[in-house]
Amino acid sequence: MAASEEVSRTIARHTYGSWRRQELWKEPLLIEDAEGVYFFDHAGKPYLDFSSQMMCSNLGHKNPVIIEAIQKQAEKLAYIAPGMTSRATFDAIQALRSVLPPNLAKFFFSTSGTEANEAALKLVRQCKAPRYKILSRYRSYHGATPGSLTFTGDPRRILAETARCTIDGVRFAPDAYCYRCPFGLTYAECNIQCARYVNYMIKEEGNVAAIIVEPVVGTNGRIVPPPEYFPILRTICDENEVVLIADEVMSGWFRTGTAFAMEHWGVEPDILTTAKGCTGAYTPVGVTVTNQAIADFFEGETLDHGHTYAYHALTLSAIPAAVSEYKRIMASGLPQKVSQYLKERLYELGDRHVSIGDVRGIGHFYALELVKNRGTKEPFNVKSDRFSRKSLMTSQVSADASKKGLYVMGWYDSLIIAPPLIITEAEVDEAIGILDQSLEIADREAEDTNTPFTKSSEFTKP
Ligand SMILES: Cc1ncc(COP(=O)(O)O)c(C=O)c1O
Repeated sequence: MAASEEVSRTIARHTYGSWRRQELWKEPLLIEDAEGVYFFDHAGKPYLDFSSQMMCSNLGHKNPVIIEAIQKQAEKLAYIAPGMTSRATFDAIQALRSVLPPNLAKFFFSTSGTEANEAALKLVRQCKAPRYKILSRYRSYHGATPGSLTFTGDPRRILAETARCTIDGVRFAPDAYCYRCPFGLTYAECNIQCARYVNYMIKEEGNVAAIIVEPVVGTNGRIVPPPEYFPILRTICDENEVVLIADEVMSGWFRTGTAFAMEHWGVEPDILTTAKGCTGAYTPVGVTVTNQAIADFFEGETLDHGHTYAYHALTLSAIPAAVSEYKRIMASGLPQKVSQYLKERLYELGDRHVSIGDVRGIGHFYALELVKNRGTKEPFNVKSDRFSRKSLMTSQVSADASKKGLYVMGWYDSLIIAPPLIITEAEVDEAIGILDQSLEIADREAEDTNTPFTKSSEFTKP
């Protein structure tokens, strides 16, 4: 068997590392095994997975129920062309309909969140033609291909624009980001300008077909909007006949405490997209599901969309098993209890570390936003630093945590706390213990201004 260094170096030499300068893809960490909330490298060293990999391994690793479902499907029928169908599709839609908002009626299955959003884009542009504009928000990520990356607000879009890999007709609405309100206002005197401004945009722009939103913003901040935000946005969409697309690729699957984050505000989207947690990341699936009105429109139309692997039986077989596992775990009460504990422990970190500006989030989905100065909220890093040669403070903290056996993803301004729903209080303690040490790296470069950290999601609580 090849030595682990050779395996890792050979892979690096012959594969492209995603979203990074290739000179930094030299010896990726070789992972050999995973179980529960831990994964293990080539030397057997355990890492506690505090970000559920890419916020997708929500059920932890080696779940026996899901493994068995995939094995059975592989033995029976791994794949059938999408012009025919299989019982795997029937079982997947039955399982999904038991947790999705009830107005959502018709599905398209693909193999990633990106594809789920590209399908939503094409559905919307076909059914709302000649309207074509898509509104999104700056603090967002919706996928890696030209359409979904154009309506992504984060730094990844900027590179795609330079490479001319974008589409026309996308505009950005303000973020519901109370810690750094784009209008400089304070909740609740703000009268929720971030939502109301969308009405102004739609009227002034003309030709707006849809708005796509992450109900709780994922990679770009774990931002919980004020309670009024989505009811206002729903009314604006209805009054202007604009399609409301909820991208629940990351916020779905009980990550925020409910099956889908939109449930917190009792708002039904017209289209919902999801992926990641729908199989607990055991197989790659993207889901696009629309309301009946959109389904009706297509009765007399050609759906101009499809993939060889659409409705792939093997990938779909993980969905019913994952849904039943989510229901079992939620019924046990463990995630509800641990999410409360997780929040308290993160608030303790906020009390101890001057580099933590805001602790916000909900359920098993939190951000520690790092700042140089809590008083002025001066950040260590900004959006444009993400693809520059600057060393990010979040990367320094994550790298140190990794050495100590904790996997925690960092974005340019915050750490992403998103453990699997099966995590226990003792495992939270282990992770917090390591973070407590690693955050000292950021503290050393922060000023102590005697300002407490912010708990912005306390006042935006659903
Ligand atoms: C909210 C959101 N939408 C879409 C995507 C794209 O999903 P995928 O990476 O499966 O293509 C992601 C991925 O992180 C996401 O967080």
